[in-house]
Amino acid sequence: MKTIGIMTSGGDSPGMNAAIRAVVKHASANGIKVIGIYNGYKGLVEKNCAELSTASVENLYRKGGTVLKTARFVDFKKPEVIQKAVENCNSLGIEGMVVIGGDGSFRGARDLTHAGIPCVGIPGTIDNDIVCTEDTIGFDSSMNIIIDCISKLRDTSETLDRCAIVEVMGAGAGWMALEGGIATGADVILVPEVKFDFQKDVIDLIKAKKANGQNNFIIVVAECVFFPESNSKHKKNVNFEYVNEQGIENIDKFTKRFQAESGVESRGTVLGHIQRGGAPTFHDCILATNMGVHAVNLLIENKSKRVVVMQNGKVTDFDIDEGLSMKKPFDKERLIMATNLNF
Ligand code: F6P
Repeated sequence: MKTIGIMTSGGDSPGMNAAIRAVVKHASANGIKVIGIYNGYKGLVEKNCAELSTASVENLYRKGGTVLKTARFVDFKKPEVIQKAVENCNSLGIEGMVVIGGDGSFRGARDLTHAGIPCVGIPGTIDNDIVCTEDTIGFDSSMNIIIDCISKLRDTSETLDRCAIVEVMGAGAGWMALEGGIATGADVILVPEVKFDFQKDVIDLIKAKKANGQNNFIIVVAECVFFPESNSKHKKNVNFEYVNEQGIENIDKFTKRFQAESGVESRGTVLGHIQRGGAPTFHDCILATNMGVHAVNLLIENKSKRVVVMQNGKVTDFDIDEGLSMKKPFDKERLIMATNLNF
């Protein structure tokens, strides 16, 4: 193998640059040239690319975002679009491709492999919602941002005897809310995977804590609990109809109603894209580096349609189809543990 391509696709996540650096450095050490594709699959189809020298990636290990930029490109399902990507790879001499992204990006990698370009996926997303891996590049970094932000909200809530209602990202999954909520000792954690009752699980619980002498509170809500009706992708959310019926279908309505019914002055905060920025943590730098090296090794060994994963604390790989079909049941026990722990 003489030349490989690399792209980042879907939402960016801290640590993607560290993975790019590792891929370029390790490939170069093995005599392989790396072509960086800009804007994910869109850039591949548009032939928007440049060779990445080792010097060009030298200081990327702690840079946030992705220097290759990224895009969500729904057209990459169309056979003629995939064919154009294959033609571009062939004309650039690209014999293998590393794709850093989430589930959707891996489907593209699978289709591109079937069309003749061997691909390897690396999980890069803050959501940690990729079923076949215990960890994704960016999750730890965004968790650290969440801890930092919620600690700040805790300070002002404590001072003013308020409740901070915090909406965190996570796309269709509640992993960010669960772990972020546990780490910050949140009083209530609401996720899309577990049904909740606004009266019993939110109002009554906070009132009981208040009766117990507690004066300030944190409620962490996964964004998907609030996704609007138009977002059909997230309709499997078990709370979907419930939040609409209760009139708590967004953080403002939730906060107003919570304040009125609990008697606790409250403020709602959407953490938003701040959760995706900044330098990766030590953990993500190491994860990204290990996964980048593993991905190049797979291509050198002529293994393709693989996704690099973390299993039992070790970096390994799965067939992409096998990986995508796996189940990652939501850890309800940890949610129960968090609720009990915080009473
Ligand atoms: O998948 C990463 C993610 O940050 C999700 O947590 C969030 O729902 C989504 O991307 C936001 O996407 P965009 O940047 O397109 O608004």
